[in-house]
Amino acid sequence: MRLFIAIELPDEIKRQLEGMRTDIPGSRWVPMEQIHLTLAFLGDVDDATLERLTRTLAAIRSPGFSLRFSGVGCFPDRRRPRVLWAGLEPEPLLNGLAAAVREAVLACDIPLEERPFSPHITLARLRFPAPREVATFLDHPLKQISPHADIHEFTLFQSRLTFQGAVHTPVKAFALSLL
Ligand code: 2AM
Repeated sequence: MRLFIAIELPDEIKRQLEGMRTDIPGSRWVPMEQIHLTLAFLGDVDDATLERLTRTLAAIRSPGFSLRFSGVGCFPDRRRPRVLWAGLEPEPLLNGLAAAVREAVLACDIPLEERPFSPHITLARLRFPAPREVATFLDHPLKQISPHADIHEFTLFQSRLTFQGAVHTPVKAFALSLL
């Protein structure tokens, strides 16, 4: 099963993020129901490891927190933008949760990319760079999003690749403790 672990956002926030969509050549915008904050991408995991992973993730004790949004940005840089994202204010509890999740994944002998956790919410992927249109998007975000979202759980997702694009299905949600 192809898996990743992410934070599901409230519908209202996802609707607002989807509403930031603009007309940029070569862009593929993430549909509202697929907008999420990735904590770790695992790739293919066998059934026995999945069971072990589920138990390990359930043992994580981490408090809930509030996410605050802070504008938009792009990867890897403005000259050759490939991914447009919504950014987040630094939140130590989010970083702590991501570290605990990644530790749990590694404890199950599932390899992870070495790249440090860089919290972002992908809004669009670009088939080719369109730096001028992207600059307009980055400098004039069309809409303001809600100032914050309260997060009470994280979710293990399955990602199935289809001809219509990836389809994400929640496998199991794990509660965070109350603030
Ligand atoms: P993202 O958070 O930057 O969008 C599910 O595929 C999620 O896992 C995506 O949202 C994606 O990044 C993240 N991800 C990280 N590495 C990935 C990879 N090698 N292949 C697919 N998705 C990856």
